[in-house]
Amino acid sequence: MFPRMAVRRVSPPAAFARPADAADAPALTRLLDQLGYPCSEEQVRARLGFGPPDRRVVVAELDGDVVGLAVLELIHPLHEAAPEGVLTALVTEANARHRGIARVLLADVARRARQAGAQRLTLRCHRRRDDAHAFYRALGFDETHLTFDRGL
Ligand SMILES: CC(C)(COP(=O)(O)OP(=O)(O)OC[C@H]1O[C@@H](n2cnc3c(N)ncnc32)[C@H](O)[C@@H]1OP(=O)(O)O)[C@@H](O)C(=O)NCCC(=O)NCCS
Repeated sequence: MFPRMAVRRVSPPAAFARPADAADAPALTRLLDQLGYPCSEEQVRARLGFGPPDRRVVVAELDGDVVGLAVLELIHPLHEAAPEGVLTALVTEANARHRGIARVLLADVARRARQAGAQRLTLRCHRRRDDAHAFYRALGFDETHLTFDRGL
């Protein structure tokens, strides 16, 4: 017989998602910079304040710190009966990656999209973002479309 040993369970991260507010502007500025879109705190505050009603800005908090950002936009294509949820930004703080933060954010955003009547969630992701491709595939997204860009 082995002596009885205390079993220590490893808990999942206690990260949770919540809507962003103006006080999150410094964290959002840092996260947008990490996503590759540098901007000022003032710009972030202005964008939060004047965003369209169909935009949901969600942050992930872990141990009191904002460590992730997801932005959901709802669009209403003429050719579809239901609105479509579009994930226009997703980023986890560089030193908090691989801890389930984006998974928590995505679950929250998907719930909000469903609540708004959407039946699908789509996104575009640059070809060079290999980590993100692996993440989306792991979370059940399929590659379905090509996207095209042209400056105006
Ligand atoms: C993509 C990104 C948001 C993932 O964030 P994250 O918090 O590290 O992801 P999670 O820890 O929630 O990962 C969930 C699952 O995705 C998969 N995954 C995440 N990152 C991965 C990687 N680099 N390689 C392979 N699989 C990966 C894993 O299956 C993981 O589950 P597991 O940890 O149980 O194996 C993060 O890497 C990031 O911010 N990248 C830079 C910004 C970016 O490219 N954003 C996307 C713009 S379209």
